[in-house]
Amino acid sequence: MLTRIARKVRNSLPSRGGAPTPAPTPSVTATTPMPEGLSPKQQRQFKLTQAVLREATLDSERFAKYSVPVGGTGRYSWMRGMRLDASATRLYHRIEKGLSLPKPRHPFGAVPTAKMEKVLANPHHDTNALYRHEIDSTLAALKLWNEHEQIDNSVAPVNSTLPGNPISAEEAAAFVTSRRSIRHFAPKAIDRALITEATRIAMSSPSVCNRQSWRAHYFDSAKDLAAVMPLHSGSAGFGDNVRGVFVVTFDIRTFEGPTERNQGWIDGGMFAQTLLLGLHAVGLGAVPLNWSRMTRASNTLRETAGIPEYENIVMLIGVGHPAEGHRVARSARRPIEEILRFGTTK
Ligand SMILES: Cc1cc2nc3c(=O)[nH]c(=O)nc-3n(C[C@H](O)[C@H](O)[C@H](O)COP(=O)(O)O)c2cc1C
Repeated sequence: MLTRIARKVRNSLPSRGGAPTPAPTPSVTATTPMPEGLSPKQQRQFKLTQAVLREATLDSERFAKYSVPVGGTGRYSWMRGMRLDASATRLYHRIEKGLSLPKPRHPFGAVPTAKMEKVLANPHHDTNALYRHEIDSTLAALKLWNEHEQIDNSVAPVNSTLPGNPISAEEAAAFVTSRRSIRHFAPKAIDRALITEATRIAMSSPSVCNRQSWRAHYFDSAKDLAAVMPLHSGSAGFGDNVRGVFVVTFDIRTFEGPTERNQGWIDGGMFAQTLLLGLHAVGLGAVPLNWSRMTRASNTLRETAGIPEYENIVMLIGVGHPAEGHRVARSARRPIEEILRFGTTK
């Protein structure tokens, strides 16, 4: 496995001439000792490959440790906490999704129903959790469909009955495209009600099977900002100017199996983008802050900020009231032809 990853890493690394760099050794792993006789360039390549492999291994071990255990239906009877919650969410969502299709199968839902019944019989199941209400109402809606071919409008509502887009397409485009990364903030405290509202907006983000793995840790006291911001690299010259900072994370316990190993980064990234838009909507300025760091740095931030070990750090977001007359970096966009391809298949 590691050898395969190593080969991939090596092949993806650019060399000065643009051609793939020759492999320093055919079988580098995270623990292979450096072979004799490598040129300085090959030694650097070897060390880089090993560092990437070590980090990838640590990431994989954390994912395997905290994610939902894979296996048969028996696990629905003994899982607990967030793993059970996420699994239950995935199950009821299959039903509500099925009922929203153009032509729902009739009848359907026997397999997820059997699993949901196991969840409800699980002694660790949380009767106050959102999933409990959703399972109860979804099972009733499924019965209505399977027995009477009627769709429960609360479980799969007709979209036109929901509030539509209240602004014109032009206004919506202007709102989204007017968000910019702001790095100069006024010396004014941020009302936490604005932070709560922006987070609520961000929670409208889509997520895989509606599992909502994202978490938003927010810090705004002088003491907390002084503890968190210096751990970030990439905010020199403005880090001490932010009035609040989010640490956006995702809970590994909501994901299952090797195929979902990267899902939290996707859902967490989508949440972070909507949070930027939410902050923009409530009139605050924000700057996304990378967390492209080694495991050791993530552990330090987790410890400093009271973030549990089963959460992965996606990024930070600095927040504040934009300073009067602040400037933004131009950040030119590439031509759309480089980004958008109207494809045809072979
Ligand atoms: C994940 C992510 C990490 C970023 N990290 C940093 C950072 O560490 N420091 C910084 O000044 N800007 C950071 N940025 C902001 C980018 O420079 C900025 O989004 C980009 O230039 C586009 O400009 P705009 O946001 O004003 O449209 C980051 C952006 C993203 C999406």
